This record gives sequence, C-alpha cells and structure tokens, in this order.
Amino acid sequence: MPLADPADPFSAVTHAAPYDYYRRLADGPPLRFDAALDCWLATGAAGVRAVLAHPACRVRPQGLGVPHNLAGTPCGAIFAELVRMNDGERHAVPKQVLVRALGQVDVVRLQAQTLRLASDRVPVGAAQLNEAIFQLPLFAMADLLGFAPAQWPALAAWTRAFVACLSPLSNGEQLAGAQEAADALLQGFGHLLREGSARPGSLLASIVTETDAMGSGLPANLVGLLSQTCDATAGLLGNAVVALRTQPELLVQLRATPERWPAMLREVSRFDPSIHNTRRYTVQDVEFDDVRVPAGQMIVVVLASASHAELGFGHGRHVCPGQSIAQAIVAACLQAWADGLEGMPLAWRSLPSLNARIPVFTQGENA
Ligand code: HEM
Repeated sequence: MPLADPADPFSAVTHAAPYDYYRRLADGPPLRFDAALDCWLATGAAGVRAVLAHPACRVRPQGLGVPHNLAGTPCGAIFAELVRMNDGERHAVPKQVLVRALGQVDVVRLQAQTLRLASDRVPVGAAQLNEAIFQLPLFAMADLLGFAPAQWPALAAWTRAFVACLSPLSNGEQLAGAQEAADALLQGFGHLLREGSARPGSLLASIVTETDAMGSGLPANLVGLLSQTCDATAGLLGNAVVALRTQPELLVQLRATPERWPAMLREVSRFDPSIHNTRRYTVQDVEFDDVRVPAGQMIVVVLASASHAELGFGHGRHVCPGQSIAQAIVAACLQAWADGLEGMPLAWRSLPSLNARIPVFTQGENA
C-alpha cells in the first residue's frame, strides 16, 4: 500500500519517504501562507534563498532573543550569545571570527585523525552505531578544540543533553538535564580558557587570539560549535549509512575509487539531508515579488525542498561555517566503519524531531 503523504513540513522530517512531497512543495509557490500551521512556508530554491537573504527576516522574533522557557537559565545564557540565534552586530563580528578560525582547520589532517579515532571505535551492532553516529563527530570536534581524550565522552554526553533545550519536543526532564549540561559545558570551556591550556595550533587557540572580537559570547559560541555539530553531523553520518545500505553498488564504487567519498556525501546532503527546516521571523513588512508578508510573522524555511540546489547547509548571513569539517569527519567515519557495517543486519526509522532527520537503527532488515 502506498504511504500517505506527510501532512506538513514538520511531519515530513521523520516520514519514511518525504521527497516526492518536497518536490511538489518546490514546484508550488516559493512563499505561501499555511493556514493549518498558521505560519508562512518558504520552499524550493527560490523561496529558501529569498528568505534567507532578506535583511528583515531574522533568526529570532523581535523582542524575544531567548525563548520564554529558557530565560534566566544557563541554557538561556548560552542561547542569547550564539551567532546562530543573533542578527546584526552581535552576529556579524563573532561570525567572522568563527569563519576565519574554522577556515584555517586543516581538513586533510582532521580526516586522517578522525579515521584513527573511528577505526578504534568500530560499532558492533545497531545500539553501538546509534551512539557512534553522535559520539564520533563530537569527539573529533572536542579533539580539534583541544580537549584531552579523557574529557570527550562527558563533553559528548553534555552536548547531547544541552541540545534538548533547542527542541520544542523536549519534556521537563530533558529540559532540566539540558540546564545541568549547559552549566557543565560552560565550566569545561571556562576551565580550558582560564588555564590558558589551549593547545598550540588547536581550533580553540585560533579563536582565543580574537577574544576581544568574540566579547562576552566566547564561551557560549565555543559550546555552539559542539551543539551545531551534534544533530546535523549525526544526521549526515546516519543518512550516509542508510545510502550505503540501500545502494550496495555505492560501496563497491567507493572501494575502487576512494576519492569519490566527498562527491558521495554531497549527494547524500542533496537527496537525504539532515537539516530539513529552519525558521525566520519578519521584523517589518516584507515583499517577495508579488507576495507581501506582514511584520511579526514566522516563516518555516523548508531547506529539504531546496537541498538538491545545494542549500542543505543554509544560505546568506547564517550559512553554515562547518560544512567542510562535517564532511571530513563523516567521510572518515564511513571509511573506518564501512566493512564492519556491510554484514550487519540493520533496520531504521527517524528519531522524533521537527527539524533534523537522523536515523535510529535497530537490528533487523527494513521492510
Ligand atoms: C552535516 C552537518 C551540518 C549541517 C547539515 C549543518 C547545517 C547548518 C545550517 C542549515 C545552518 C544555518 C541555519 C539557519 O540559517 O537557520 C548552520 C549554521 C551553523 N553551523 Fe552548521 N551544519 C552542519 C555541521 C556543522 C559543524 C560540524 C559545525 C561546527 C564546526 C557547524 C557550525 C555551524 C554554526 C556556528 C552555524 C551558525 C552560523 C550563523 O548563524 O552564522 N555546523 N548549519
């Protein structure tokens, strides 16, 4: 029996086969009001680009820098400073520092180092794979930042707990865990910064040289590097594992021509991306061709309806500065794990989320 279409872009994120639906969204008007969701949708390459590039479309609603449920908490303190959650000066200056520092990372070296880390941690079975798709990218980032290996598991666990504060699906217990994790992460970075122990040549060392430009947002944006890595990179890694399972000829080709790994990951990012939606809020009336969006509206930007146009990592002021780092980490993990995964009986569905498509694996075969 054919699967029913997703009802809306939020349920499409975890739907088993959402891509015909996304194609239809992309073929429709670039910007439309969805009465059922009571918000606007930006779809297809034209809609997504136009909204992400528009100066009056901001990452937070006007006057609400921090969501009500996080105000006055450790998570709120981080949220308030993140480049991802700010516009204007508070965004532009620290973003430049991050772009510069991330741009200096030697991705060839990062890939070789991640290959070593991942080869020592080959998942055996679905449960370990579920852990590993989150842990390995976070370990690689923690290493890059300059944390010692003994600290990586705690950092990865805190990061996963912290990102729960960013999801509207989180319950009270998860939110409480996120607050504890936020404190622990700030302390972890505070310690590293106070000790002046930034390893020479580490990512932290290159960001710290621009402490003044980062201002009070330095620790929060260091946490942000881990939190931005977390779900998005686990999703790319998991979705690439799914691609290797559903297209067995891929692995044969990649073994013969390993230089094709980056191209393979670009295809996964285009056709089964990890981040499906983001949001913008209008701070004044905005005109897009013949469509007028009043001030104070939320626009759901359906990235997955435009990812074939290479928009899976965003566009405009807030475009992802971690793309090549994420791709290097994921390529290394897959190279280390591909042989072991080949014979593993794996089925999958998606973790509950309104924005990120991340597979959760179980032992078995998908129907
Ligand atoms: C496959 C993995 C990844 C995907 C799909 C991804 C996707 C994205 C997207 C779509 C945005 C823009 C969100 C928006 O405009 O609303 C973004 C922003 C961001 N990403 Fe990534 N990302 C990934 C990995 C990473 C990694 C590894 C890092 C850190 C090294 C990172 C750091 C950031 C930061 C700091 C921002 C905020 C930029 C700004 O607001 O100016 N990302 N990412």
